[in-house]
Amino acid sequence: MFDFTNKVVFVAGGTSGINLAIAEAFAAAGASVAVLSRSQQKVEAAVKLLNQHSSNIAGFTADVRDFAGTQEALRQAHDKLGPFDVLISGAAGNFPAPALGMSANAFKSVVDIDLLGTFNVLRAGFEFLHKPGACIINISAPQAYCPMELQMHVCAAKAGVDMITRVAALEWAPFGIRVNSVVPGPIDDTEGMKRLAPTAEIRSTIASSVPLGRLGTKQDVANACLWLCTPAASYITGVVLAVDGGWSLGGAASSASALKNAFFKQ
Ligand code: NAP
Ligand code: COA
Repeated sequence: MFDFTNKVVFVAGGTSGINLAIAEAFAAAGASVAVLSRSQQKVEAAVKLLNQHSSNIAGFTADVRDFAGTQEALRQAHDKLGPFDVLISGAAGNFPAPALGMSANAFKSVVDIDLLGTFNVLRAGFEFLHKPGACIINISAPQAYCPMELQMHVCAAKAGVDMITRVAALEWAPFGIRVNSVVPGPIDDTEGMKRLAPTAEIRSTIASSVPLGRLGTKQDVANACLWLCTPAASYITGVVLAVDGGWSLGGAASSASALKNAFFKQ
C-alpha cells in the first residue's frame, strides 16, 4: 500500500509493542529503519525482526531521559543510514496509581520519559532531519485530553507531548518539517493494555465502550503513521490524530472507571 524505498526512519522506543509495529511497517514498505530503547536485549530482538524486511537496520541502546545518550544514538543512526525522513518519538512509561499512591519520583519518572524524552528526541533529532520534507510523529495517548483516574502522571505528560507537537509544528514549518501526534486508542496485545486492562473483564468493558466495537490493532496505528508521512498528507501539520475507533469521544471515561473499580477491589 505504501512505498518508503530510499527513506530513513528513526523510531525512539521502537523495540516493542505499537512502536515496533510502526518500525516494522516502515521497514516492510522499503525504508531504512533505526530503533532505540533502554534494553540491549529488546534492541537486538527488534533488529533481528526488522532485518527480515531490510538490511538497512540499526539499533541503539539509550534512555530518552538522557539527552547526550539520545543525541549520540541519533548521530550514529544518521551517519549509518543518512538524514531522517521520519522521526518518531514513542518511548513511554505507565502504571495505574492514584495521585495519593504516587511518590514525586513516580510522577517524575513518567513525565521524564514521555515529555522530557519527546523534547530530547526532537531537540537532538532536528539536526539530523532531511530538510525540507521530514515528518515527525509523537505518539500520544487519549489521556492527553481525557482526564482519567489513576493516570495523573500520563495525562499531564501526554498533554505536554501534544503541546510539543503544536509548537514544533509552528516553529519548524519554515524548515519544511511537519509535526503531528498520533493517539492510539486501546490497542490489543500491548504492554500498555496489560497494565491498564489487566483482566479479561476490563478488556471486554473497554472493547464494548469503543464506538467501532473492537480494540485496535498495532497495524491500525502503523497504517495511520505511514499515511501521515506520505505526500497525500503533505498539508497536515500540528494535528492530534486519534486512531481509537471513536473511544475518546466518550468510552474512555467509562473504561477508566472500570480500571479504578478493579484497582481498588484488589
Ligand atoms: P511498550 O511495548 O512498553 O513500548 C514502550 C517502548 O518504549 C519500548 O520499546 C521501551 O523499551 C521503550 N522505552 C520505555 N522507556 C524508555 C526510555 N526511558 N528510554 C528509551 N526507551 C524507552 O508499550 P506500548 O503499549 O506498545 O506503547 C507504545 C506507545 O503507545 C507509548 O507511547 C504509549 O504511551 C502509546 N499508547 C499505547 C496505548 C496502548 O493501548 N498500548 C494506548 C495509547 C497510547 P525499553 O523497555 O527497552 O526501554
Ligand atoms: N505504583 C506507584 N508507583 C510506582 C509504580 C506503581 N505501580 N511503579 C513504579 N512506581 C514508582 C517507583 O516506586 C519509583 O518511585 P520511588 O523512587 O519513590 O520509589 C518510581 O515510580 C520510579 O520507578 P523505577 O522503577 O525506578 O523507574 P524506571 O525509570 O526504572 O521505570 C517505569 C519507569 C516505572 C515507568 C516502568 O514501569 C517502565 O520502565 N515502563 C516502560 C514500559 C511501559 O510502561 N509500557 C507501557 C507504555 S503505555
